[in-house]
Amino acid sequence: MIKIVIVFAAALFFSLTISSVASANGGPHGGYAPATDACAGCHRTHTAEGPQLLIATSTYGLCMTCHGSTTGGADTNVQDGYFLDSRSTSTNAITSTATNGYLLAGGFTMYKGTAATSSHDVSGSVTTAWGNGANRGVVGSLALARGGLDCASCHDPHGSTNYRIMNNVVNSVTISMAQVDESVKDYDTEHWSTGQSDLCTACHATYHVTTAGSGSSASVATAGGYAHRIDMPYSYSFNNKTNVNPETIGIAAGGGTTYTLPLAGTDVVCQTCHLPHGTSATMSGLAAGGATGSGTLPGNTTATDSALLRLNNRAVCETCHQK
Ligand code: HEC
Ligand code: HEC
Ligand code: HEC
Ligand code: HEC
Ligand code: HEC
Ligand code: HEC
Repeated sequence: MIKIVIVFAAALFFSLTISSVASANGGPHGGYAPATDACAGCHRTHTAEGPQLLIATSTYGLCMTCHGSTTGGADTNVQDGYFLDSRSTSTNAITSTATNGYLLAGGFTMYKGTAATSSHDVSGSVTTAWGNGANRGVVGSLALARGGLDCASCHDPHGSTNYRIMNNVVNSVTISMAQVDESVKDYDTEHWSTGQSDLCTACHATYHVTTAGSGSSASVATAGGYAHRIDMPYSYSFNNKTNVNPETIGIAAGGGTTYTLPLAGTDVVCQTCHLPHGTSATMSGLAAGGATGSGTLPGNTTATDSALLRLNNRAVCETCHQK
């Protein structure tokens, strides 16, 4: 009997420990106890190899020791864009993500088994972004407040109150993204919350055009050209058409695999069309060549420039418009 009570108490203690991890953003990111050993997983006080007393030479290098292709400290392999449950033991009990499920943010070097065709360059060397200034479609009119873009430009490695440990301040802009799956993490099913576009807008401010009719508005046009409206409700039907999933009308996603756009319960956000980390979608014919059509583009991209888009040939349009 005493043995059973002890086993029960141990099980209860274990489950409480697991649930305290769940509220702490996952992995070594936040929720630290005063006597935590977590700092030593990323910092050295006198013998650090990188700035900010990091144990790796760069922030990108540090993140990749756990989230990269070959290492195993985290189940989320952001380099190849998929989830593998066996890589880490720390959060197995609190995720509901399919083994080999494709990560919501895409992949930096591969996605859906195919080489990435564009990605955010997180090496720390790019200091300017499209539309971070007065105009859309213009690169580098204003330098990013924090310097070179890396993983910590968007995420706070010490945890935060935002969805996916996004920094509370990105590029000097305070952002707030509601957490939607803190108790059971789901890394392969879309569940965007309020504030999702605000992350992107912190660096690409002029792309956040939210007024009705902005595609024909002369006042919008002065900031670099007419622009498609963003952040309108998803269920909004346009020209009496109903939104459909890409595969219903025969559109293949990047890497040749079908992709489902989330079509209900949320607004059209930047991520409706773009993947934040990187994509393997391919652009051909009239869709190739990027903003200028010339193929001379900044960032981690190929000459055809897939601009972090989810679907081949910018096929996102037909999921809503069906012309
Ligand atoms: C998962 C890796 C990781 C862990 C764990 C971690 N840090 Fe950090 N820390 C970083 C990174 C990366 C930076 C640089 C962030 C940047 O460039 O903005 C940093 C920066 C800092 C800074 C300077 C910038 C700031 O945010 O004030 C302090 C202080 C700091 N960490 C303290 C700690 C302490 C204390 C702990 C343990 C409670 C800890 N860190 C745990 C990765 C980590
Ligand atoms: C431009 C901002 C940005 C940068 C830079 C960035 N991320 Fe992310 N990351 C996101 C967003 C947005 C999501 C949430 C995607 C979703 O859930 O729809 C995310 C999600 C994640 C996830 C959860 C898995 C997933 O794909 O949803 C991990 C892990 C992660 N990022 C790690 C990293 C690492 C490591 C780096 C650097 C190599 C990095 N991120 C750089 C914006 C960024
Ligand atoms: C010591 C290993 C380790 C390091 C180093 C590390 N992570 Fe993580 N990270 C984890 C684990 C474990 C999880 C839990 C999910 C999983 O297993 O992938 C996680 C989860 C995350 C998430 C998802 C948070 C959420 O709300 O679900 C993001 C985003 C993330 N890490 C970003 C980073 C960034 C950015 C860096 C570099 C500054 C970094 N990580 C460094 C182990 C690590
Ligand atoms: C998620 C659904 C969705 C997607 C994807 C989408 N649109 Fe739209 N589009 C809309 C809605 C809703 C409006 C009406 C906006 C408003 O209220 O002004 C609209 C408006 C427009 C307009 C009229 C603009 C104006 O104000 O005169 C054009 C042209 C257009 N879209 C083209 C495109 C193209 C090209 C693509 C692909 C790059 C695309 N759309 C992708 C939903 C979508
Ligand atoms: C309806 C789909 C759609 C939505 C929503 C969307 N984009 Fe785009 N975006 C595109 C397409 C398509 C391109 C490729 C260039 C083009 O057609 O203008 C692009 C290109 C870009 C570029 C590359 C530079 C350029 O102009 O070519 C940036 C930066 C960008 N988008 C940022 C954003 C941000 C930030 C948001 C949210 C505020 C957003 N996008 C929302 C479809 C979209
Ligand atoms: C911390 C600043 C920052 C944030 C936040 C940010 N970006 Fe970017 N973005 C950049 C920089 C810098 C570049 C140019 C260099 C590059 O391509 O990595 C860029 C480039 C892009 C491009 C063009 C890529 C290409 O090669 O054609 C697109 C599209 C884009 N961002 C979309 C987004 C979306 C969508 C979000 C939100 C999920 C976002 N960005 C959030 C800094 C940011």
